[in-house]
Amino acid sequence: MHHIRQVVDQDFTAVNDFIIEQLQSRVEMVENIGHYIIDAGGKRLRPMLTLLSAGAIGAQQRDQVRLAAVIEFIHTATLLHDDVVDLSELRRGRPTANAEFGNAPSVLVGDFLYSRAFQVLVDIGSLPLMGLLAGTTNTVAEGEVLQLARAGNADTDEATYYDVIRSKTAVLFAAACSGAAIVGEASTYRDTLYDYGMNLGIAFQLVDDILDYEGDPKETGKNIGDDLAEGKPTLPLIYLLREGSDAEKVMVRHAIEHKSADNLEQILAAVQSSGALQYCRDAAARYSENAIAAARTLPESSYRNAMITLSQDALGRRS
Ligand code: IPE
Ligand code: IPE
Ligand code: MG
Ligand code: MG
Repeated sequence: MHHIRQVVDQDFTAVNDFIIEQLQSRVEMVENIGHYIIDAGGKRLRPMLTLLSAGAIGAQQRDQVRLAAVIEFIHTATLLHDDVVDLSELRRGRPTANAEFGNAPSVLVGDFLYSRAFQVLVDIGSLPLMGLLAGTTNTVAEGEVLQLARAGNADTDEATYYDVIRSKTAVLFAAACSGAAIVGEASTYRDTLYDYGMNLGIAFQLVDDILDYEGDPKETGKNIGDDLAEGKPTLPLIYLLREGSDAEKVMVRHAIEHKSADNLEQILAAVQSSGALQYCRDAAARYSENAIAAARTLPESSYRNAMITLSQDALGRRS
């Protein structure tokens, strides 16, 4: 990650400065909560994708920096809302904003970040870019609602699972990448970058769903077992419901339907011993390969190589 960041070093600093600048509000609570989540760090992966994509197609201008910040604002807004909906208590190694300040301020500051992102987009002034991000944000919202509608439903199939993770996560990755082609006026690369981002985003969320069962909270900065407590039928559980022993099936179905982490220890053991996590890792590897194949069609450069490395590293990530 460190090495990849060096490829876009100056712009990366500019993105962080611009993010801080754009957090300004006359309302103190907005700034407090905004800084609380943004200063906690986060990997800044999506803005990095924008900068790498811009570099890879030779389209670096100031607008890439602003677009990268817009993407991180939209991402941060979804995290504020997501942690309220998921009843999560730990994020980026600290209590979540909802745990620290309450649900209402978290939702409202999330709205502030969304709308600030669109103000910056208006300043950039590209209607196609606004179209891409309006559509993306709308799809993310749909994905979160679809996931909510499926929580507690143990009959959710793989196709629905992939629909959820494409919508809630991967489309924003795709927009982070293909948006660079729009502001850089390099439309020939738009679909390739979209394809790269979409596949990487799917791999990334698959790994996130694995880490929810086997991650180390010290590394992920999030609690383990959140998905189980929310009754989320993620791929490890879908696999167990199909391939597990009868006893495992009964246990998993009960946990999902009752949104209960009471049997977390046994379910963790079953997820590990059944091959469910390996099944998910194999799926993530396929999407990562697809992303790499798309990146390889870009002109050779340090940026493109960093995009390939990033896609490989996404599989082994611990945080
Ligand atoms: C968390 O995203 C939400 C998911 C899509 C899994 P990240 O893992 O990129 O979160 P930060 O920004 O690094 O905290
Ligand atoms: C992340 O889904 C997707 C969005 C934030 C839109 P998760 O609920 O799996 O993300 P974490 O695990 O809370 O970061
Ligand atoms: Mg969540
Ligand atoms: Mg998760």
